[in-house]
Amino acid sequence: MLSAACLNGRFGYIVFFIVAMLILTSKELDFLRKKSSSTELSFTSPSQVHIAITACGRALYGKDALLTIKSIIAEMVPSSGLAHLLISIVWDESKVIDEVLVKPLLLHVTKYSYHKFVQIRLVPASELPKELEVPFGKCASQRLFFAENPHFTNEDALIYVDTDVLFLKSPLLLWNIFSCFSPLQKFGMANETNGGTGGYYRKRLSKNHVPCSQGSCKCKNGLRCKRFYGLYGLNSGVALMNLTRIRRSDFQSRIRIAMTSFKFYGDQDVYNHLFAERNDVHVLPCIWNIRSDSRCDFAKNDESLGILHGNRKLFHRLEGSLSVQDFNLQKFDVHHQRIRNMKWDKLGPRCLGCFQNTILKQTNVCQCC
Ligand SMILES: *[C@@H]1O[C@H](CO)[C@@H](O)[C@H](O)[C@H]1NC(C)=O
Ligand SMILES: *[C@@H]1O[C@H](CO)[C@@H](O)[C@H](O)[C@H]1NC(C)=O
Repeated sequence: MLSAACLNGRFGYIVFFIVAMLILTSKELDFLRKKSSSTELSFTSPSQVHIAITACGRALYGKDALLTIKSIIAEMVPSSGLAHLLISIVWDESKVIDEVLVKPLLLHVTKYSYHKFVQIRLVPASELPKELEVPFGKCASQRLFFAENPHFTNEDALIYVDTDVLFLKSPLLLWNIFSCFSPLQKFGMANETNGGTGGYYRKRLSKNHVPCSQGSCKCKNGLRCKRFYGLYGLNSGVALMNLTRIRRSDFQSRIRIAMTSFKFYGDQDVYNHLFAERNDVHVLPCIWNIRSDSRCDFAKNDESLGILHGNRKLFHRLEGSLSVQDFNLQKFDVHHQRIRNMKWDKLGPRCLGCFQNTILKQTNVCQCC
């Protein structure tokens, strides 16, 4: 069903876009980008795309975050005349992250003039009481508390991404999915897996549940237990968050209740548990969080790849000795190398045509609604 929000938010913008995109060549886009602030196009698109990323502890995580941000800026280039990009780096203020991430990033952004459409904001990680921390270090549970982080008080919404993701499409297209949310939806996340008989949640948590066709329906013997969303659970490595709606609800207090009642191993488990209790999540198309084991059916159409997520240190294993016979892994390897080798002075999208084609395809129907 087409919601009113969808029609208003999406169509006006999209219709303008088709017309614009049909007549724009890449050269013109370049020109458009240069005079970004004064074009009519920027008037019809969201004024800002906000992405938050966390970086704490080891140099490795800082380096990963730098690569993620490089891919974000590269893919933002074709949309840069249409929206401004804000990247918030939530970090531990350590010397090591400063050296490998913050300093080089600020240098590149200024030196090559990306600051004309990209703003980098540094946000100190909040101190959390012990009972609200999950294993895996200081950064791991930060995203659960963005809605109450004083540095985000003025922010309406953001997209959180893990540091092991690479963008292969414009963040503007992902941001657009906010306009597909129903009034009750506060988050957007993709399925943990798509099909098959297993999956992390079904294998691990199903012993606590009464079997049912929707996955985690009820806990055994009427007891309370950890649950997960839908048939396979959701992955929180890419998460759209409408902070305004989260703040207006009791979601943050429910996080505290859940975390003090159960011992969770990761923030993703907390989200899944809460979404199973109350469904306020919009399930993202799987192309926005492709993992080697997510069974996302993208192979048919390479242009549709949105975000590659190299979870379980996949990108590092690919740099090492992992052999890449597997078709899907080859894609991860190729794009990881491409983005690593891209020069900061020439950041650009994987393919400009992909941006235009997606816009054109999405105009036929408001698919995500
Ligand atoms: C978030 O929700 C608020 C309140 O419903 C709404 O006004 C706002 O437009 C939403 N933000 C986005 C990016 O969709
Ligand atoms: C997510 O998984 C469920 C259960 O398998 C499926 O019905 C649904 O279509 C999937 N959603 C998307 C957007 O892929």
